[in-house]
Amino acid sequence: MKFFIDTANLVQIREAQDLGVLDGVTTNPSLMAKEGITGHDNIINHYKAICDIVEGDVSAEVIAIDYATIIKEGEILAALNPKIVVKVPMIKEGIRAIKYFSSKGIKTNCTLVFSAGQALLAAKAGATYVSPFIGRLDDISTDGLGLISDIRLIYDNYGFQTQILAASVRHPMHIIDCAKLGADVMTGPLSAILALLKHPLTDSGLQQFLADHAKAAGQ
Ligand code: G3P
Repeated sequence: MKFFIDTANLVQIREAQDLGVLDGVTTNPSLMAKEGITGHDNIINHYKAICDIVEGDVSAEVIAIDYATIIKEGEILAALNPKIVVKVPMIKEGIRAIKYFSSKGIKTNCTLVFSAGQALLAAKAGATYVSPFIGRLDDISTDGLGLISDIRLIYDNYGFQTQILAASVRHPMHIIDCAKLGADVMTGPLSAILALLKHPLTDSGLQQFLADHAKAAGQ
């Protein structure tokens, strides 16, 4: 299972990279705005900075919603670095664009996916990744993890190569459940990744080991 971090914050991306378990980064226009990154040149430079930090794929989202401009933006983004994955919204023009990018060997991430039918379309168009937003489904009392399970079944039935990128992950149990269901990738905040480290028996056990060692050494 690949771990992506879902942020445009360079400090957090570096911290996750330093941990040694990071496989990539996902961003979106809201996350870029949260970091105060605005204007074409600043946005482009920020993507380059992220690519300099991480080894894996970096999703960079198009703003356009019409076919011609999605293609134009996507080609500019893809040319920045081979790590760039062009993130395209799940709309009719987006599906056409994913098909085009796929035929040109440009990696894509189909975003804002909330149903199995949408995920099936993304796979048929040749998306590299599909991003079902599980947290936002949970927010409206709908089963986000159930969607991961449905997409896994559908993709396995037909051998689709599109990777299931569980997005809008909010906490460590989302990560564990996605791993059980066979999601290829999860993207979430640094806090959810670090929360996987925690167990009170680890803390108390370590304390005991260190105390016993110190006692035996006569300290
Ligand atoms: O990866 C999708 C993500 O950015 C959305 O997360 O927490 O805003 O629903 P959230």
